[in-house]
Amino acid sequence: MIRFCVFVAFLLFLVASPVSAGFYPNASSIPPDLHHPTDSAWNAFLNLTGCHAGMKVNGLYKIKQYFQHFGYIPQTLSGKFTDDFDDLLKNAVEMYQRNFKLNITGELDELTLNHVVIPRCGVPDVVNGTSTMLNGGRRRTYEVSFSGRSQRFHAVKRYSFFPGAPRWPERRRNLTYAFEPRNALAEEVKNVFSRAFVRWAEVIPLTFRRVESFETSDISIGFYTGNHGDGEPFDGFMGTLAHAFSPPNGHLHLDSDEDWIVSGEGGDGVLSERAAVDLESVAVHEIGHLLGLGHSSVQDSIMYPTLTTGRRKVDLHSDDVEGVQYLYGSNPNFNGSRTPTPSTYQRDTGDFGAAGRIYGSSFVLTCLLMSTVGLLLLY
Ligand SMILES: *[C@@H]1O[C@H](CO)[C@@H](O)[C@H](O)[C@H]1NC(C)=O
Ligand SMILES: *[C@@H]1O[C@H](CO)[C@@H](O)[C@H](O)[C@H]1NC(C)=O
Ligand SMILES: *[C@@H]1O[C@H](CO)[C@@H](O)[C@H](O)[C@H]1NC(C)=O
Ligand SMILES: *[C@@H]1O[C@H](CO)[C@@H](O)[C@H](O)[C@H]1NC(C)=O
Ligand SMILES: *[C@@H]1O[C@H](CO)[C@@H](O)[C@H](O)[C@H]1NC(C)=O
Ligand SMILES: *[C@@H]1O[C@H](CO)[C@@H](O)[C@H](O)[C@H]1NC(C)=O
Ligand SMILES: [Zn+2]
Ligand SMILES: [Zn+2]
Repeated sequence: MIRFCVFVAFLLFLVASPVSAGFYPNASSIPPDLHHPTDSAWNAFLNLTGCHAGMKVNGLYKIKQYFQHFGYIPQTLSGKFTDDFDDLLKNAVEMYQRNFKLNITGELDELTLNHVVIPRCGVPDVVNGTSTMLNGGRRRTYEVSFSGRSQRFHAVKRYSFFPGAPRWPERRRNLTYAFEPRNALAEEVKNVFSRAFVRWAEVIPLTFRRVESFETSDISIGFYTGNHGDGEPFDGFMGTLAHAFSPPNGHLHLDSDEDWIVSGEGGDGVLSERAAVDLESVAVHEIGHLLGLGHSSVQDSIMYPTLTTGRRKVDLHSDDVEGVQYLYGSNPNFNGSRTPTPSTYQRDTGDFGAAGRIYGSSFVLTCLLMSTVGLLLLY
């Protein structure tokens, strides 16, 4: 906890050396011979397929570190892990499988590891042993029933907030944003963020205005590479793609080492069969964090921690809308027309009713708020 607070303090003295990121108008314009020397380091976890309780396998300690990073193993443990598949790891795997709606086997089966290697958000899924993905919303899960073809479906609200549910204060509802001047971003890149802000502004009574002053704007956006001064270094191609802090911090950082697709306007859809990271999809997600939303376990929501490859996901899901309106109320001009059709709602499996609260009254916890989004890139 203190570590995160220190990181936030460091941000104030941020000294970084941004590197020009690769921006492409569409996936087919990425040069086909642009091969990256290394895939995500997480791909090495695929070698652990089939590991289960009782085994001792070289490298298991690394996946314990992974799980600890995301909260599945208590942060209080030293991090000097053994290669034993012990109860610590088994419990972590089970909790992970529950969060991501995988079969709860407690083993590192193929499906689970395929999920583990997806580049993803750096914010923990689990705080003090309690999953934030399953029941983080202050209103808990609430269900809307309606008739499907022959079955009864439930729309389950799974949005969450950061501990303490921080939000921009009442007197700061017309927010400004600015771009890291050293990035020298093209206008079309900046416009991607403008569009992303509009998507949120449509549903809540907040406004976002672009200004030039990076030092004094409410929200600051920059592309950085590697260690950039906030204790959460970017990791090169794939892996972690971006992160943002909760209100009222306003920092949004993206990884310069990704190839970003600066696609045109349009809604959700498949971009290409090639690996592609859609900048607007990431921007919309990270702005959700800037506004105070945590991750949602609704797979189609913007605030879900991962995004399937080559996919553009920019339309707010009703889960996102409900969550952000809980914090700020509704934009008087919003008439709900963006609410997706019932067919995209998930079925309620009812597995998660037992999860407890994640809220603490301590504002120190807001220092935890750094978060990142990962996109799944399939080759
Ligand atoms: C992708 O972008 C290039 C360069 O702007 C353009 O020539 C090409 O038509 C685009 N392809 C598609 C499928 O939009
Ligand atoms: C995974 O296993 C394969 C075959 O055993 C080996 O060649 C490869 O180096 C391993 N990869 C890592 C990252 O350990
Ligand atoms: C869970 O296991 C069952 C039977 O073993 C299998 O049919 C199903 O596809 C699995 N589901 C997932 C999400 O892995
Ligand atoms: C935001 O700006 C609008 C006019 O654009 C104004 O009516 C409103 O009072 C402002 N809100 C705050 C909190 O400053
Ligand atoms: C909601 O607003 C949109 C445009 O903002 C409009 O096209 C639509 O008809 C409205 N829907 C209702 C139910 O008023
Ligand atoms: C997590 O646990 C620590 C120590 O037990 C406690 O101080 C803190 O308030 C807890 N945080 C939450 C969010 O429950
Ligand atoms: Zn950062
Ligand atoms: Zn995130």
